[in-house]
Amino acid sequence: MEKAEIGLIGLGTMGSSLALNIAEKGHRIAVFNRTVSRVDTFKAEAGPLADRIVPCHSLAELAEAIRPPRPVIIMVVAGKPVDEQIAALREMLSAGDIVIDAGNANFHDTVRRFNELEGSGLAFIGMGVSGGKEGARHGPSIMAGGTEESWRRVENVLTAISAKFKGEPCAAWLGPDGAGHFVKTIHNSIEYADMQMIAEIYGILRDGLGMGAKEIAPIFAGWTEGRLNSYLIEIAARVLGADDAKTGEPVVDIILDRAGQKGTGKWSVIEAQQLGIPATAIEAAVAARVLSSMKGERLAAENAYGRNVSRISEPKKALLKHLELGLLAGKIAAYAQGFAVMAGASKPFGWNLPLPTIARIWRAGCIIRSQMLDQMAEAFGKDAATTNLLMAPTFVRMMNEAHPSLRRIVAVAAEAGLPVPALSSALAYFDAYRQGRGTSNLIQAQRDFFGAHGFERIDTPGAHHGPWGHDQ
Ligand code: 6PG
Repeated sequence: MEKAEIGLIGLGTMGSSLALNIAEKGHRIAVFNRTVSRVDTFKAEAGPLADRIVPCHSLAELAEAIRPPRPVIIMVVAGKPVDEQIAALREMLSAGDIVIDAGNANFHDTVRRFNELEGSGLAFIGMGVSGGKEGARHGPSIMAGGTEESWRRVENVLTAISAKFKGEPCAAWLGPDGAGHFVKTIHNSIEYADMQMIAEIYGILRDGLGMGAKEIAPIFAGWTEGRLNSYLIEIAARVLGADDAKTGEPVVDIILDRAGQKGTGKWSVIEAQQLGIPATAIEAAVAARVLSSMKGERLAAENAYGRNVSRISEPKKALLKHLELGLLAGKIAAYAQGFAVMAGASKPFGWNLPLPTIARIWRAGCIIRSQMLDQMAEAFGKDAATTNLLMAPTFVRMMNEAHPSLRRIVAVAAEAGLPVPALSSALAYFDAYRQGRGTSNLIQAQRDFFGAHGFERIDTPGAHHGPWGHDQ
């Protein structure tokens, strides 16, 4: 039988979609799944693509079915299952074969796996895949890390299945070992911030203006025509417009306000802290999800304090304009933080992450795809020294136009008693970032007062101590 070009293990939602995508692009693919019967049903359901699918009932069969050097994609739950799968697969593969982990792995695991496999002659690619089920099936954004040589060997298949932005594939090699999974992790954390800010705007409309889901949906839909054009705004409009089959009510109104998370947001925040890069809007978004999950405690606190949310009196038309522009400003600050974390990670991890390429491959296919990413790609591409988006001339102009609206909505929300943690963190970050003289002179003085830590003077170099009148 004709050998397959590539293999895939794990026919869950994402794995099945990726396998069909690969087959559809003309590549013969061998598939294996832990629940073995799934491989046959998968082929049976593949319709006209079935001819290019080789169902394998064991890992040995899978290895046998692929033409060496064999690339094998693993799409299983991140964590221990990946290690178990790699351990089992190692027995079947030989030097030169490439294992590709396409799950949402923690990049530290990816670095470890890369090093472990390198010693055995197997290549390892840690590959972030974004776009959910639809993306995987019809064109995801693909962020790969590993050796450039291994990437070159699978590039044709991976670029063929990726999303395209004006004909350009949204798939790229981003650097050694964990680079791809790190970038995917940051992608997800930006996704957290983007979603949290959209939810905060929804909160202002719902609780501050008393609008129903059906009234809010067209507002978001209208924003997709402007500079907020993005997948997340588009789906916000769609979900707000959808009805619950059981009650006939807007479905968002019957969904419990407790958000899940699988870890990528948290990992990003930990990494940002380790690297010493402020990512406050992202941190606020991750914390907001945690707080959302504490439903019982929140209800008890509401009992203790009362809800105390007041209606916003600002004229609706003017407020809507501020909400649109303020969300844009908040979003720019959050993206600036995400990119700054990637810029900061480049050196210590030895990745040299290409920010313009990352912005380019996020323009289509992934969950945070948006019109603005094209402008980000251009901004980073124009000046390699730009590591903070807030300093790119296009974004300086946009922020100058939009930050007064962000300020307005944060103020209005605070007065009304509405929480906007990500938007207000974004505003505070922006204000602190552009403050040439801040207030940490006082912190330095206090540190010196109680701990003799010393401080720098504005007029004389070196370390100094203050006239505190006690032994420091
Ligand atoms: C994507 C998504 C995808 C998934 C996340 C959600 O890029 O396609 O980010 O990876 O939706 O795992 O993460 P949480 O469950 O943590 O929200």
